[in-house]
Amino acid sequence: MAVTGLIMIGFLLIHMYGNLKIFSGAEAFNSYSAWLREAFYPILPHKGLLWILRVVLVVSVLLHMWSAFTLWSRDNKATGGGRRYASSRASKGLQRSFASRTLRWGGVIIALFVIFHILHFTAYIIRPGGMPTDTPYDRVMIGYSPENWWITLIYVVALIMLLFHLRHGIWSALTTLGANTSVKARKTMDVIAWVVSIVIIGGFLLTPIAVLTGIVS
Ligand code: HEM
Repeated sequence: MAVTGLIMIGFLLIHMYGNLKIFSGAEAFNSYSAWLREAFYPILPHKGLLWILRVVLVVSVLLHMWSAFTLWSRDNKATGGGRRYASSRASKGLQRSFASRTLRWGGVIIALFVIFHILHFTAYIIRPGGMPTDTPYDRVMIGYSPENWWITLIYVVALIMLLFHLRHGIWSALTTLGANTSVKARKTMDVIAWVVSIVIIGGFLLTPIAVLTGIVS
C-alpha cells in the first residue's frame, strides 16, 4: 500500500508540475504534451515513455486497491467489525481524524474521478462545449471555461477529497516504512504529510481556477 501510494504521489508531483506550464503559454504547454509522446525517441518508440508510465500507474492502482481490500478484511477480522484506535486522549475514546475516516470512501471517489478525468482529457468522450481534439492547451481552456463551471466544480471537489486522502496516506506510508518512532518523529511526519499534500493539491487547483477566472486566457 505504502510503496504503490508513493509511486502515485511521484506521478502526481510530475503531473502537477507539468500542468503549471499553462502559465507559460500555449506553446510551452503543447510542447510539454508533445514531449511526453516523443521522449527518448528513437530509443523508445513513439509514445513509449507514455505507455511505460501508464503500465506502472495501472499496476500501482491495482496493487493499491488489492492492498486496501486485504487490509480492510484483516482489520474487520481483528476488531470483529468494532472500533479501532481506542485512546483515552482523543475525544470519544477514538484517535481518528476526518482524513483517516474518509480514507476508504475517499479512495473510491478518487478512482471515479480518475475515470471521469481520462474520459475528459485523454479519451475526449466527455467534451462539453465541443472540446476540440487538436491541441492540449485549447482542450484545457475549453475544459475549464466559465460556461463549463460544473466541470471545474467536479475537479475542485475531487481535489479536496484527494487532499485528505494524501494527507493521511502519506502519514500512514511513513509509518509503514518505519518512520513512526517517537512523538518528535510523528510531528515531523505530520508536517511532511501536510506540506506535500498542499503543494500537490494547491498546484493542481491553480490551473482550473486560473482558466475559470480568466487569469490564463
Ligand atoms: C486540475 C488538475 C488537473 C489537470 C488540469 C489535469 C490535466 C490533464 C491533461 C490535460 C491530461 C492529458 C495530457 C495529454 O494528453 O497530454 C491529463 C491526463 C491524465 N491525468 Fe490529469 N489533470 C489534473 C489532475 C489529475 C489528478 C488529480 C490525477 C490523478 C489522481 C490525474 C491523472 C491523470 C491521468 C492518469 C491522465 C492520463 C494520462 C494518459 O494515460 O494519457 N490528473 N491530465
